Amino acid sequence: MKKWYAVIGNPIEHSMSPLMHSTWIEKEGKNASYIPVHVLPENLEAAVTSLKLLGCSGWNVTIPHKESIIPFLDEIDDTAAQMGAVNTVVRMQDGRYKGYNTDGLGFVRSLEEAVGIDHRHKSVLLIGAGGAARGIAFALKQTGYRQINIANRTISKAQAICDDLDIEAKALTLERASEDLDRYDIIIQTTAAGLNKSEFSMPIGLKRLSKTAIVADIVYNPMMTPFLKEAKRSGATIVTGLGMFIHQGALSYSYWMGSYPNAKDVEELLLRQIG
Ligand code: ATR
Repeated sequence: MKKWYAVIGNPIEHSMSPLMHSTWIEKEGKNASYIPVHVLPENLEAAVTSLKLLGCSGWNVTIPHKESIIPFLDEIDDTAAQMGAVNTVVRMQDGRYKGYNTDGLGFVRSLEEAVGIDHRHKSVLLIGAGGAARGIAFALKQTGYRQINIANRTISKAQAICDDLDIEAKALTLERASEDLDRYDIIIQTTAAGLNKSEFSMPIGLKRLSKTAIVADIVYNPMMTPFLKEAKRSGATIVTGLGMFIHQGALSYSYWMGSYPNAKDVEELLLRQIG
């Protein structure tokens, strides 16, 4: 029987997930489809009940439901529980539904695809302490990164992630991070800075950026954020957010289908979509 998958969110019409997953489904000749479903926050519980009743084989979860969906699922993977957020739901053999989070690991895959895996012993600065930063921090730890500092406007939120991480992790202010920037090998921007609709564009100054640094941004629309543009001008190696988007999706796909799809199959298509 044909299987069907979905992405739920509010808003949902601009999601590129249907295009990405449908392309992989077609390339790999799977008997499946993937659709966007608009779900308002007040309808989340009813929507999850409906997806289960209708036999959906799995779905992605996007803003604003990643945290609030947790109580409505039958089981949560340990890492997703630590992150406090789910972006992928999988229907298990017994018909129960389990929540996972592929965002953080998707970022690490895209980082390592771009720059290689020989950086795991190096020093990382995460900028921001929201849900995205939390997911990436746990995924970095899981992959073997050990020196992670987190800078945020609200330092208590950075401290909370450091406490949960339970490795050598330090919370600091944005100003402090900026002053000591040359001590970091990898700098990851996770705030809304540079999003088309956001009013602020630079979370920290990059004057003291090392030329040998690797600078990543998780924002992918626009792909070249003001932060990445300035990092590039300083001579740093940059990693755009598109890879994270593709690899979080590729991981979801692999949980559902059992095979890891080719990131390259969708890159051009998504680039054209972003424009
Ligand atoms: P997400 O789930 O995408 O990570 P979030 O949880 O809303 O989103 O987190 C947004 C991040 O951007 C936070 O680190 C936030 O800083 P605070 O924790 O101090 O709120 C950061 N951020 C948002 N607007 C900002 C601004 N104008 N200046 C600096 N940081 C900002």
